[in-house]
Amino acid sequence: MGKLVRLSFSLEAELARALDDLLGRKGYGNRSEFLRDLIRGRLVEEEWADDAEVVGTITIVYDHHRPGLSEHLTELQHGYHDVILASTHIHLDRDICVEAVLVKGKATRVREIADVLGQPKGVLHSSMAAATTGKKLKGEKGRDRGGPHGSPPMTRR
Ligand code: NI
Repeated sequence: MGKLVRLSFSLEAELARALDDLLGRKGYGNRSEFLRDLIRGRLVEEEWADDAEVVGTITIVYDHHRPGLSEHLTELQHGYHDVILASTHIHLDRDICVEAVLVKGKATRVREIADVLGQPKGVLHSSMAAATTGKKLKGEKGRDRGGPHGSPPMTRR
């Protein structure tokens, strides 16, 4: 475990009650665990704001019957081969496809491909989940969550 530093801070009683209520609902064992996650989340936001190298997942849901759309989306992805790590295509039903594209690169470039893939006619929905390379977040989290890669217990999220 990395060296721990003990911090203390003050909160209005009402805010502290709201915090404990939230911890209970989210299944956090203690306040420290929650604050670590909160801080890490904020650091990831900063990585995106600073145009650092980030990781993201783009999900596109689209109309399978729109002529040329599937080929067009593939063509667009070829234009961003430098940031695409992997993509998976699933035929959701007879009419609808979903594609999940895992990307890693500068935040502006990742945002750009997310926007580009969401624009063609026939795309019914697109969204991007902003994540991190994790390089700046190394701490004890990976060690106290059990799995070899620190996967959180199923009840957490
Ligand atoms: Ni399909």
